[in-house]
Amino acid sequence: MGKTVRAHTNIALIKYWGKKDALLRLPLMSSLSMTLDRFYTETKVTDSAENRFYLDGIEQKGKNAQRVFSYLSLLQQKFGVSGNLQVESSNHVPTSAGLASSSSAFAALAAAFCDHYEIRVDQRELSRLARLGSGSACRSVYGGFVVWKKGNDHESSFAYPLDHQMDLQLLAIELNQQPKKLPSTNGMKQAQTSPLFNTWLERNQTELEQMIRAIEQDDFTSLGQLAELNANEMHAINLSAQPGFTYFEPATIKAIKLVEQLRKNGIECYYTIDAGPNVKVMTRLKNVKEIINQFVSVFDNVKIVNASFGPGLTYLD
Ligand code: DP6
Repeated sequence: MGKTVRAHTNIALIKYWGKKDALLRLPLMSSLSMTLDRFYTETKVTDSAENRFYLDGIEQKGKNAQRVFSYLSLLQQKFGVSGNLQVESSNHVPTSAGLASSSSAFAALAAAFCDHYEIRVDQRELSRLARLGSGSACRSVYGGFVVWKKGNDHESSFAYPLDHQMDLQLLAIELNQQPKKLPSTNGMKQAQTSPLFNTWLERNQTELEQMIRAIEQDDFTSLGQLAELNANEMHAINLSAQPGFTYFEPATIKAIKLVEQLRKNGIECYYTIDAGPNVKVMTRLKNVKEIINQFVSVFDNVKIVNASFGPGLTYLD
């Protein structure tokens, strides 16, 4: 019987936002992320009379379940195996609230699937398989800082870890608990209609190289400035798409202004924002308490989780 696999979610500092091939989820750009310790998904795959998908003990029907079953059938075809499967997942991530739970979900599912069928693949191949479920999932195979090299086909598009860590804390600020309105898959497709989209692509390699250099040199200031710029570029192409759209809510802008104010007051921190209204703040350990206090005093009912580096895939039993 297959093992339960835990995969941690990741937050992109250089973002994946645009596909070259929707079926293979080949990206138009390389990306770089940090795997997070506090958010993860655990998944087990077993044989079953019918295909079933349970999330946190509740059987899922509709779109969520369909995405899981079509992914499993893609993997079954790929490896020449068959049979109905039961997937049991538990999610320790605020689902769809802007922290990409699909990253941990499909990394855990790819690994649990291979474990169930005793298919032996290395981590690089697992990252390719996870990518087929959700692009960002390929980076959750590894811990720490991870690069997803865009490549140009299934074989050459995979993630690999960077051998560097630094004093970097990620405060996930939950301002809004509504599930995101526009899934990433649709948002990034729409973004490609922006007249700024080509500039976004042209800048990718330079920004990736600058980010890797900042990490290697333990240069938190450059890392934060670049991550913030990259996130703002992503949201600028959303705003300038045709028709334009945004994931920002009023509270998102208020949080951005608070981060700017904290910086003016000498508390070094930077923000990044994904496909949702919530904001993640990057800082050093010494500033965590002060930043949490400030957010709690400015926002009602804000939930804040202090995360740092998490591991790659873990096999639990
Ligand atoms: C903004 O990986 O969720 O979080 O491949 O369509 O499933 P699909 O998209 P997904 O997109 C993540 C987008 C992002 C940036 C990132 O994680 O790089």
